[in-house]
This record gives sequence, C-alpha cells and structure tokens, in this order.
Amino acid sequence: MATLETTVDGLKLANPFVIGSGPPGTNSRVIRRAFKEGWGAVIAKTVSLDASKVINVSPRYAKLKSSDGKEVIGWENIELISDRSFDTWLDEFKACKDEYPDGVLIASIMEEYNKDAWCEIVERCQDAGVDAFELNFSCPHGLPERKMGAAMGENPGILEEVCGWVMGVAKLPVWAKMTPNVAHIEDPSAAALRAGCQGISAINTIRSVMGVDLETLRPEPTVEGYTTPGGYSSRAVKPIALRMVMEIAQLIRKEFPGRSLSAIGGVETGEDAAQFVLLGADTIQVCTGVMKFGYGHVKKLNEGLLAFMESKDFETLADFKGHSLDYFTTHAELVRMRTERKAAEDAAKEAVADDNAWEGDEFVAQSNALSRD
Ligand SMILES: Cc1cc2nc3c(=O)[nH]c(=O)nc-3n(C[C@H](O)[C@H](O)[C@H](O)COP(=O)(O)O)c2cc1C
Repeated sequence: MATLETTVDGLKLANPFVIGSGPPGTNSRVIRRAFKEGWGAVIAKTVSLDASKVINVSPRYAKLKSSDGKEVIGWENIELISDRSFDTWLDEFKACKDEYPDGVLIASIMEEYNKDAWCEIVERCQDAGVDAFELNFSCPHGLPERKMGAAMGENPGILEEVCGWVMGVAKLPVWAKMTPNVAHIEDPSAAALRAGCQGISAINTIRSVMGVDLETLRPEPTVEGYTTPGGYSSRAVKPIALRMVMEIAQLIRKEFPGRSLSAIGGVETGEDAAQFVLLGADTIQVCTGVMKFGYGHVKKLNEGLLAFMESKDFETLADFKGHSLDYFTTHAELVRMRTERKAAEDAAKEAVADDNAWEGDEFVAQSNALSRD
C-alpha cells in the first residue's frame, strides 16, 4: 500500500501538500479550516513586527484567462504581507495549535535589515508554539522598496547574514523562500544553506505586468489609473518553477545532502506534484490553486499523487524523490548522444542495404544459372 506520509526536518506530515503563504493562510479561521480538510502543513500569511507599515491597495489582482474565458491560467497580485497586527497573529498561532496540536503550522516571517528585529520575530513566534519557520526573502513588490523581501533574496551576501541571525536563535526548522527574479537561483539558495537553514522553498511569484487595457491605455491591475509590477503565479508559472526546483535540487544533492526542498509554483493536480517530487521536492506548496479550487482540493491532490505512485509501484515519496534529476545534461551532450545514435542508425541501414543488394545479386546469378541449364 502506497503512503503519502512523510517526515521532513523532523516535521511529521500526513501528506506532502502544504498551504503556501498567502490568502489561504490569512487568519486562524482559514488555517483551522485547512487542517480540518487534511493539508499536510500550513504556512501562514507572512507576518512582520509592525503591521502599521503594511498598507494594501485595491484592486490588487489581475488574471490571465484561457481563450474561452473559463479558466484562470495566470494570476498577478500586488498584495503585500499581512497587514494584521503581530500580537493578533501570536494569539491566533496559539489558538490554531491548541485546536490542532498535530497540525504542522509554519510561520512565514519577514523583517527589515536589522538583527534585533529578526531575532525578536523568531523568538516571539517560537514562544507562540509554531512548528517551523519560512523566511520570506522573496516578495517582489512593495516590500523591496523598504529593502525587504526580494531585495534581500536578490543579494546572497545579505541573505546569508540574515539567515545567520535567524539560525542563532531558532530552535525550530527554518526554510528560506527564494525569489525567482534572479539569474541563478542556486546562489541565494547556497547562501541560505551555508548559513545553516534546514531547507529551501521555491518559488515565490515572478515579477510581471499582466497587461494593458486597450480602451483606457492603462496597465493592469489599475489603482487610481496607475500600477506597479506585481507577482505572477498559478498554472502558467509551473515550467519555470520546475526548472528552478531542479536547479536547487541539483545544488542540494551536490553540496548540501540531507537539506530539504519545498516546491511551489502552479501546482493544481497530484500529477503536477509528482513531477516536482521527481525533480527533488520533499513537500509541495499550493497557494493560487487553493484560491481557485478551495481547501477541499487537498483530497484530489492526495488521490492524484497516490494513483501515480500505485501506477509505478512506488510505496513512499522517497522511492521516487529526485529520480528524474539524472536525466538532465548539457545541450552539447544532447548533440553528442544524438549524433552517435544517428551514426549507429545510418550504419545499421547501410548494413541492411548491403544484405538486400547481396540477396538481389544472388537471385540474379541463380536465375541466370537456371536459364542456362
Ligand atoms: C495573492 C497572493 C499573495 C501572496 N502572499 C504571499 C506572502 O504573504 N508571503 C509569501 O511568502 N508568498 C506569498 N505569495 C506567493 C505564494 O506563496 C507562492 O509562492 C506563489 O504564488 C507561487 O505558487 P502558486 O502558483 O501555487 O500560487 C502570494 C501569492 C499570491 C497569489
């Protein structure tokens, strides 16, 4: 019997599906709903010490739909981290853990470039009873203007220093969440792992402009006639997320064996999740997918992933984690293999042609001999 149960960095998960930080984990009511529906873990909406500095605008979403207009393929948001007070959050973390002591609750945290602030936020969340941390170094809009989020994630030196501060006080597993808006995601990932983080989460949203309204000539989402580039998520980002997860998994395999990887980006089905596990993921986060399909969607995700495992006789996630990483190579190597293969095929064809020609000659010779007799 195949099982989805898994233990990652000491956290015991009933399945590898984790609510990604964002609207689906925006308060204790929805977090408890997620536990009730059976999600393996929940990462709450990112919190900071001083929520009064976080001011959201509206509208903050824009969607790319399929040509029949029925399906959301891509989703842009200019939403900031949580604008709810830190004290409220601490009470809610406690309330969630009181009601669901076995529910794995991960606090997503973000602070300015200030050691005391990072240490304080870690210690106070820890005291509230959360099970692990995700460090948000990746929000691509709004926060970078305050040198937070992606502004840190784009700078491996700063990221390593901040992760070092966190690791100095954290008594729980720590995952560092990467921005995809960099040329080489391995560089900030390596910095976080060098600083001692137990795992990497990737990817956050991709910097984007959803479109321009051809009637008003204003870019979208339009706030008072203007916009700012936002973060792109949903199904459209999956191929980019798969590539980046693969690159981080190769790094972990080579230089940081044993560290964990939480994959995020466009997951909507159990089959999507299977692909991320095949490329080295330990857990699979879903954010926009929950906004599209609801909390009960975890049941379909579980069924799809289990059906894949049973079709291949895999009993545990470990049986196929990273299996497909072996099939990446350089383009030059693809050319060498293709050329060798073509040469072998051409040689085989020539051999068959020679055989046929010989058989033909033999036939003519025999007929000539017969007609002479
Ligand atoms: C509306 C919205 C708000 C988000 N807010 C946060 C956040 O507060 N912290 C964070 O780390 N990621 C945030 N994210 C990013 C998601 O956690 C995730 O990394 C990204 O959306 C890609 O995954 P998906 O395609 O499953 O949504 C947000 C995403 C969306 C769509």
